[in-house]
Formats: sequence, structure tokens, C-alpha cells
Amino acid sequence: MNVRLIPADNPDDLAAKAAAHFVAKATAASGRFVVALSGGSTPRLFHTFLAEERSEHVDWSRVHFLLSDERALPPSDPNSNFFMAQETLLKPLGIPRAQIYRPEADAGDLGIAASLYETIVAGLTSPAGAVDLVVLGMGDDGHTASLFPGEAEPGGLVAAVSASTGTVADRRLTFTYEALSRARSMLILISGRKKAARLKQVLTEGGDLPMQRVLRGRKGDTTIIADRDALAELEPAQIEELK
Ligand code: 6PG
Repeated sequence: MNVRLIPADNPDDLAAKAAAHFVAKATAASGRFVVALSGGSTPRLFHTFLAEERSEHVDWSRVHFLLSDERALPPSDPNSNFFMAQETLLKPLGIPRAQIYRPEADAGDLGIAASLYETIVAGLTSPAGAVDLVVLGMGDDGHTASLFPGEAEPGGLVAAVSASTGTVADRRLTFTYEALSRARSMLILISGRKKAARLKQVLTEGGDLPMQRVLRGRKGDTTIIADRDALAELEPAQIEELK
């Protein structure tokens, strides 16, 4: 597993390290830089830090934004991943609409929405179908993007899925394992003591949790930034081995 672990002291330090990683990748890229963002609470701090503290370090005219997953909610719904990305990063940076590609998971037929978004992703990442950077979180159950445990592997690059979260936002669009495996770089942000047991399982045991499948399938570089609480179940030697 070609994974590099960067320990962070706390959520703020995680956000700062993630922003530095983003800037390094964006500035190293020549031409267009295509990034796929995730939802959830962990990326929020990263977005805010990137927008407020690091924005002058990136030529944003070259950066194009996708989402690695989206709930079947309108963009104005605070529970949509687009809304969070818009409020914490895209609007503060003044990113033009032409550089933002929202999965229209609220458009009615989710299968058609998945096909339409796959066409956008494929066109933007032609010919390899590889985004330059995908930013992911991990749920307590080991899910990532909207790839959940026990679900069949969807085909293509973007799929319509039903999460079993029991929330209003169960219907979703998500990058598939194939799309995630192709990403040139992957940045995974994990924070909090409730993730510690699952992170240890993902990093030290075999298995078929979505995050384990994603890591096994990786061809490009993969970095996990995890804070002290999320690393609490790993031995110091195990952390050193993964650095
Ligand atoms: C979503 C996210 C999801 C998220 C994880 C971790 O749409 O819910 O894309 O995959 O990354 O659930 O979320 P937290 O960072 O809030 O723990």
C-alpha cells in the first residue's frame, strides 16, 4: 500500500497541513489542475484555512473543482456537499462558475445525473480519466465519498447509490472505486477519537471496507493526514512505519 501518513497535532494543525499539501500539488501542476472535493465536517476547516491563509499561493484561474460525491439535495441545502464547499472555499476565493462542476444529484433521475456528471468528469480529465487531486474523508464505518460497506462495486467513474445512513440524504452520486484509483494524487483527512479504531483497522488489517478497497486500488500517491485523536489506537512504531 503506497500510503504516506502525516500526523497532525489537532484539527487546526490538520487543516494547515492539508492546505500546505494542496498548495504544493496545485503549484507543481502545469496547466489545468482538477480537484475533487468531499463533504463532511473534516474538510471544512481545511477549506477555511486554504481560503483565508494560503489563497495567495495558488493561481486559482487554473483550478477546476469537482465533487467526489453529492447528496440528492439542492445546492441551497446546507446539507449538500456543494453548499459546504461553496460557503467555505469557492465563494471566499471568488472561483468563477465556469470552473465549478456541481453534480446535479437533485435533478430527479439519479441515473441520468450520474451519466451526465461522468461525461463532465471524463471530459475534464481526458484522456486518462484521472483527476489531479481527490480530497477524501472517512466515516466511522470506513466509508469514503459515498462508497459504503457491503454495497456492490459500481461501474464507470460516477454512480448513483443509496446510502444506508438512514438520513434524508440517502440518495447520492459518487465517484467509483475506479475513479478514485485513477486520481493522480489522493489526500485523506481523518480527525477525531471516534475514527481511531477504524483507522487502525484500515491501516493494519486486511478487509473490504471501502477505505481499504480504495487504498488497495491506488496507483498514484496517497497521503493521509490524521490528528492525534484519530491516531490514538496506533502504536508509535506503526505511525513511524507509515510516515
Ligand atoms: C459525505 C462525505 C463523506 C465524508 C465522511 C467523513 O458526503 O458524507 O463525502 O464521505 O467524507 O462521512 O465525514 P466527516 O469528515 O464529517 O467525519
